[in-house]
Amino acid sequence: MAYGMEPGDRHLSLDGQWKFHWTKTPDEQPQGFERPSFDDSSWEVFPVPGDWEMNGYGTPIYSSSGYTFKIDPPRVMGEPKSTYTAFVERNPTAVYRRTFSVPDEWKGMEVFLRFGAVSSAFYVWVNGQLAGYSQGSMEPAEFRITDYLHGTDNQLTLQVMKYSDGSYLEDQDMWRMAGIHRSVELIATPRIRIRDFGIRTLFDDQYRDARLIIHPELAVVGNQRGEGFRVTARLTDEDGQEMLDSILSQDAATMLNLDHKAAIMNDRNPQRGYPKWGWLTAKVRNPHKWSAETPYLYTLHLSLVDSMGNVVEQVQTKVGFRQLEIKDGRLLVNGKPVRLRGVNRHEMDPVTGHVMTEERMLQDILLMKRANINAVRTCHYPNTERWYALCDSIGLYVMDEADIEEHGLRGQLASDPSWAPAWIDRTQRLVVRDRNHPSVVMWSLGNEAGWGSNFALTAAWIHEYDPTRFVHYEGAQGTGAEAYGWHGDPKSVDVISRFYPRTQDDYLNPGVADNNMERPENARWERLLSIARDDSDQRPVLTSEYAHAMGNALGNFKEYWDEIYSHPRMLGGFIWEWADEGIFKTQNGKRMVAYGGDFGDVPNLKAFCVKGIVSSDRETTPKYDEVKAVYSPIQFSYENGQVCPILRDENYTLDDFAIRQESHDGFIDVYATLCHDTRWAKAGHLVHHQQFVSDPQWYKKVVEQRQKQFMKKSKKRKAVTTEQQEAAAREFFALLRPHFFRAPTDNDKGFGNWIAKDWKKQQLDQLRDSIVEPLILVQGADGNLTATATTAYHTLEGSITTEYRFVVAPDLSIDFTATYTPSGNLPPLPCMGNTLVLPKQYGHLTYYGRGPNDNYPDRHASTTIALWKSIVGEQYVHYPRPQDSGNHDDVAYLELTDSKGGGWRVTCTDLPFSFAALPYSTDHLYATAHDCELVEDAQHIYLNLDAAVMGLGNSSCGPGVLTRYAIPQRPHTLHVRLERK
Ligand code: GAL
Ligand code: MG
Repeated sequence: MAYGMEPGDRHLSLDGQWKFHWTKTPDEQPQGFERPSFDDSSWEVFPVPGDWEMNGYGTPIYSSSGYTFKIDPPRVMGEPKSTYTAFVERNPTAVYRRTFSVPDEWKGMEVFLRFGAVSSAFYVWVNGQLAGYSQGSMEPAEFRITDYLHGTDNQLTLQVMKYSDGSYLEDQDMWRMAGIHRSVELIATPRIRIRDFGIRTLFDDQYRDARLIIHPELAVVGNQRGEGFRVTARLTDEDGQEMLDSILSQDAATMLNLDHKAAIMNDRNPQRGYPKWGWLTAKVRNPHKWSAETPYLYTLHLSLVDSMGNVVEQVQTKVGFRQLEIKDGRLLVNGKPVRLRGVNRHEMDPVTGHVMTEERMLQDILLMKRANINAVRTCHYPNTERWYALCDSIGLYVMDEADIEEHGLRGQLASDPSWAPAWIDRTQRLVVRDRNHPSVVMWSLGNEAGWGSNFALTAAWIHEYDPTRFVHYEGAQGTGAEAYGWHGDPKSVDVISRFYPRTQDDYLNPGVADNNMERPENARWERLLSIARDDSDQRPVLTSEYAHAMGNALGNFKEYWDEIYSHPRMLGGFIWEWADEGIFKTQNGKRMVAYGGDFGDVPNLKAFCVKGIVSSDRETTPKYDEVKAVYSPIQFSYENGQVCPILRDENYTLDDFAIRQESHDGFIDVYATLCHDTRWAKAGHLVHHQQFVSDPQWYKKVVEQRQKQFMKKSKKRKAVTTEQQEAAAREFFALLRPHFFRAPTDNDKGFGNWIAKDWKKQQLDQLRDSIVEPLILVQGADGNLTATATTAYHTLEGSITTEYRFVVAPDLSIDFTATYTPSGNLPPLPCMGNTLVLPKQYGHLTYYGRGPNDNYPDRHASTTIALWKSIVGEQYVHYPRPQDSGNHDDVAYLELTDSKGGGWRVTCTDLPFSFAALPYSTDHLYATAHDCELVEDAQHIYLNLDAAVMGLGNSSCGPGVLTRYAIPQRPHTLHVRLERK
């Protein structure tokens, strides 16, 4: 409740349908649209809040970096390239009109008009009079409109432009859309009002008792001088119990000090040194401490009371008692070190665009909490206010970011004094708005806007204005600065931050012969742990963007966290990013997840907008589960037959979890579930599942058991003839295709288009084969038929010679060995195996191996080895841009059967293998641009059996695959037994 007597009585929502007129440029708007008498009867109506481009006006443009208009700061309407969307839609402009009545009870009161956010710039008129102008697409704007009002039927007009000089600071990687995209409201206040307030909570040295410090800011209009008024404050806990011994009270006239009395000024704002900040303070005995895991909130009740004791205005706000420190390179929350297990979250919805709904926000935060995420970065701008309230009450640490990015100009404006006012304006509008949220632990100065004096200005301002939090900015880096007299990472920030760092491991460097050299795609990314180990700088070290989750991704995610936990200064990181940013569109009657270019938008960076760990409409993916496993606050170790818990988060205790252990087939599965209900999950919720191998030969037992079951069931087979064995051998041979290529994942394609580019250049995607030894069948005395063949599969400059040997037993089972020998100049291979093209009817899948999600050698943390059942039609993971998925490692056996149980079984012989069983061929995945264009093969399923598979890595924006998860270039052997059932 804010600014009222009763909930909502001083607020009036202006959301809803407004009259609307959209044009491609501002000049095309009719004259006089701001006049109350203007005839808008022929105009359309349009939703507020709402993005134009999501509602049929203009083109949404997905630009990752780089302005969509002609660069000519501060102008935005020069002529761009003729191919650009903005060539025609030069500066889309909409005029919005509506009327409103002011409630009778508001007579004599002050009235303010408040916009949550409007993109990018607008003028506002009330009853024909210009009330003001604002710019900044993600900042609130308030206008005092009291003097323009006349009771009923007030006319309100807005002119909103998509581009303004402010757009130079809004070159964030996202869909470029415009409109009134957050709520609009009227607010009434008395002629003396609490115009704002700040709150601080400071603990004693033991972190036991705290001081609550309140800093109200009053304002008056007209002849109101505040005489006789008081501001009072109460604090209640979650049960409504009073927390303070008495009501706090402060004289309003003193606070206002309209006469500038020296005594008051000497006391409050002395000539030297800091001002006295709080007007009301109280000691609170042993309050609950706020953390992301213990988000306890008190309620502060602020009232403005007149001399008769009447409450004329009241405000309620939530208060969390929490205090931050940086000590010995660690971030402490209430004295305890924390690590930020974060994600970056854009405000994007596949249906409503940048307009955030309550349901979506709630869905996001619950999904985050259930994935053991404890921190969110509001990349790259202040979010809808409601988001912070949810973070306060459900518990997330927030890195709150200013709406400043000039990617397309690199850092050109950051040192330009004429842009300093814009810098400070955007920063102040962030910090002043959000300073009372306990969830906000760090201010981020912006993103990808270079470094320069404008940032030094905003950092310094924040440090003084809000000494209770820390300042982050990834662009604050010192490389190469010595030459001009600077030293090290700028001191203006409190933490060292890097994007997309590497771990200490060796990375695959395709095409580089000398092992000491590195491909630039890898070398450009720094090693975070090396920075943390360098003690010439003692600040905490974090990565505000890492683990670029585009498409089938999140390789070696666990390795990042092994390093983060290994060094006290490693503060954690924020995954890029939370959700795919696709837009739903209908194409040929199907729902399409559209990405850059799908609206004819130019310039665009295609599928680069879909890189979340959840889909555009927040379906979870295997990546989400991997995050949950690695981010778990409780984990386990296994040594000498003992499972031991490891607590990764000091705000939990072991008593918070029920731990259960199960053993099966050479595995120990450990489960940690919540003991208590929380705001995001009920008691019993599975927080973590981890598996240990107690018997490294597990697969032998598993195979044996399965074989026994099978023997029991199967009837004695009839003896077969040599002809039947030969036919089986030929038939099997005909099913075999080489499998050395995968439909490139986004990581394979990479930022520099690296491995996939090599694959294409080397023609791995269109192998030519030559017969080295034809198929030869030899009937043995033991009744087995042995078939051999050797085929060489050629790339441009290399080949993989494959020796096939299969033994068809009298029961027609096949002992299959394929040895793949690479030679010549080959790029790193994504897989080494064979594809079996099987009839579509065998679509029922059972396997004993790593599942249930698909997994790759560097993405194992969230999958376990067990018996899983599925159907082939569900094995492919549907990313908006088709690419390889569906692999399973560590497989002892698999069965593909039809509805009657007939089909194929593949069993490991020497070692477990990898497989994927998919309804699409690699070629089809490779050739298709959108998921909705995929067509299941009508006749076949594709079973890949692999001796080796390459990991996923991070190179869609970040380092490549770790060497240990790549396939060494030497012979590999697949050895399995196949049976027809
Ligand atoms: C970062 C940038 C993000 C996003 C990401 C790539 O450099 O800060 O906004 O563009 O790269 O997905
Ligand atoms: Mg950028």
